[in-house]
Amino acid sequence: MLGGKDNLAVDREAVDRIAEHIPAAIPLARANRAFLQRSVRHLAAAGVRQFLDLGSGLPTGGNVHEVVREVSPDAKVVYVDHDPVVATHARALLEEEGKVVFVQADLLRPAELLAMPEVTGFLDLNQPVAVLLVSILHFVQDADDPASMVKVLRDAVAPGSYLVLTHAVEGLGQERDEENVRDVYRGSSTGGAQGRELAEIRAFFGDFELIEPGLVHVCEWRPDHPDLIGEEGLPGYLMAGVARKG
Ligand SMILES: C[S@@+](CC[C@H](N)C(=O)[O-])C[C@H]1O[C@@H](n2cnc3c(N)ncnc32)[C@H](O)[C@@H]1O
Repeated sequence: MLGGKDNLAVDREAVDRIAEHIPAAIPLARANRAFLQRSVRHLAAAGVRQFLDLGSGLPTGGNVHEVVREVSPDAKVVYVDHDPVVATHARALLEEEGKVVFVQADLLRPAELLAMPEVTGFLDLNQPVAVLLVSILHFVQDADDPASMVKVLRDAVAPGSYLVLTHAVEGLGQERDEENVRDVYRGSSTGGAQGRELAEIRAFFGDFELIEPGLVHVCEWRPDHPDLIGEEGLPGYLMAGVARKG
């Protein structure tokens, strides 16, 4: 969906099937990535020096550490994904001694993840950290209790930390198209995808305070480029927000 060359035939096939039912999926994936970059740039400029990117995906253009580096050369970035193919690519393309590390782990077990030596030896959880859950929670099923999972993360980080999140909204497409797309995801390594209602998405932030402009359509979060205005026509499937722990 993001273009580039680090992708596989099976992914390209799945993308074609998704775009057939929800053509906005591709521009939305790009808008999601642009939000990720804007939010990370903003937080690096605000002084955050540690980033934990959960469900980081296959490396592509404008990865988190590259964006952070523009502002803060010494910042540390931990990428986490459970997919073995992502792990192979990420280790080869992203890791940098002392600054960028990739950890293959399941974010459904956040306490275990945060206790891994690769994480504890690298991040100082007594200092602020930006936890990124960008386009990932809609791949976590209700049965896996994403609310409790995110709470563990919120509780573990120091005051001054941030939660950065995007999430698909339920019920904005034609039910049949949505079901077809869910079907594609069920047949993929993600095991399924589900949108949620706005109130449920807001609840993931707990008592963290949403910074301006709040929980908004992914294109409307601090747009920094006139081209983004053109994307406002995209359907509101994907919401984005950044919140701070007081
Ligand atoms: C849509 S990609 C998001 C990539 C990136 N965050 C972005 O927004 O561009 C979702 C990623 O989450 C990973 N993922 C899904 N479930 C996961 C889990 N339980 N633990 C760790 N990673 C997971 C998938 O392997 C995939 O690489």
